[in-house]
Amino acid sequence: MLERLDDRIADPALYGDPAAYDEIFMSLRRDDPVRWTSPAGYRPFWTVTKYQDIVEIERQNDKFINEPRLSLNLIEDEERVRAGPGRGTTNPMRMLVNMDGAMHRAHRNITQSWFLPTTLRKIESDVATLAKEFVDLLGARGDECDFAEDIAVWFPLRVIMTILGVPRQDDQKMLRLTKAILGSTDREITSGASAGESRRRAIEEFFAYFALLIADRRERPTGDLASVIANARIDGRPISEMEAVSYYVIIATAGHDTTSASIAGGLHALLEYPSELEKLRRSPELLPLAVEEMLRWVSPVRHFFRTATDSYVLRGRPIAPGDSLMMCYPSANRDEDVFDDPFRFKIERAQNRHVAFGFGVHQCLGLHLARLEMKAFFSELLSRVDHIELAGEPAWIESSVVSGLKHLPIRYAMRK
Ligand code: HEM
Repeated sequence: MLERLDDRIADPALYGDPAAYDEIFMSLRRDDPVRWTSPAGYRPFWTVTKYQDIVEIERQNDKFINEPRLSLNLIEDEERVRAGPGRGTTNPMRMLVNMDGAMHRAHRNITQSWFLPTTLRKIESDVATLAKEFVDLLGARGDECDFAEDIAVWFPLRVIMTILGVPRQDDQKMLRLTKAILGSTDREITSGASAGESRRRAIEEFFAYFALLIADRRERPTGDLASVIANARIDGRPISEMEAVSYYVIIATAGHDTTSASIAGGLHALLEYPSELEKLRRSPELLPLAVEEMLRWVSPVRHFFRTATDSYVLRGRPIAPGDSLMMCYPSANRDEDVFDDPFRFKIERAQNRHVAFGFGVHQCLGLHLARLEMKAFFSELLSRVDHIELAGEPAWIESSVVSGLKHLPIRYAMRK
């Protein structure tokens, strides 16, 4: 029985079934909030399910580090990567999420100011134009569509690719590659290849693609984000091609599926709570609060790991040096000790200090951009659509890392 629960925690299918997830993680928070977990096929770890414990871990980024284990991977996949041309870790890329200490600070500083609200104001009207374009597309589809597949996936993808300087005709390719990297345990997405194998192939293709973009921005810098990264210097030396490509890859992957999932999941929540939808229509000034509640509700990043550098006691459990800890963000965002009535979607929720964007030095680099996109999209959608309802069963991506709706059938009428 104990064994089976551990297997369930690691099973990607659990993350495609929100009701089952909520049931399991609610009982973990109550009975075994920091649980030693040994699923078949994976190296063991602590499953950390409570809000305060995750904040306690993330606040101490010298005691709990990102290297060498960032997410849950099968032992066979970890070994394949270790044997390959990588750097002897479970992830061959030099990405922000894999870095610690001074190196992380130096790399983060390259783009930190670009992602601040004051700088993002420059692209606000472009994002609003794209939001309008994708709501137009919804109207052009008639009165029914799969919102997740037809709309929610494409809008944040176009925003992030515009920022990275990737032309529109390559959106399909970028979508395929980001999905292979992030959602690669879902059988509908991997078309048979193992998670590790499809991730490895995607990384190779990303490298080939972005290497060309870097060469172009080094020769002809334009002042866009791609140029900022391509021409960045750390301690006086230009960053390597590998570092620059890794930067593009983390922004392309982290900046897309997460926001798509939050938009589709946010709409689904509004459809499941029609009185909240009506309230938002009547009082559009509630949108910023509603967006925070959507983020708490959806929590598309299901976990990240940290590795303990020293002995530590967390909620009475003895953590040994080298132990890894799985920080379960959606569980923290349903924590009964922090959120009032956590299983209710309330657009006016007060003091909504969710950890959907993580916490501490690694807290999401793109959080202001994600909020900007969500506000732009829902503002456009709610002012243009007259009626909207569910038209079938939703389905979620089976991935324990980033997950969200892959199908959301809706029926609607646009305002004349
Ligand atoms: C609703 C959308 C999003 C959600 C829920 C989300 C969530 C997260 C989470 C949970 C983390 C890890 C934080 C931690 O370790 O404490 C993260 C990191 C990151 N996110 Fe986001 N993210 C979103 C959108 C974006 C966007 C639009 C970008 C575009 C730039 C982005 C770029 C990044 C990067 C680069 C990191 C790594 C930061 C670091 O390690 O220093 N994310 N995000």
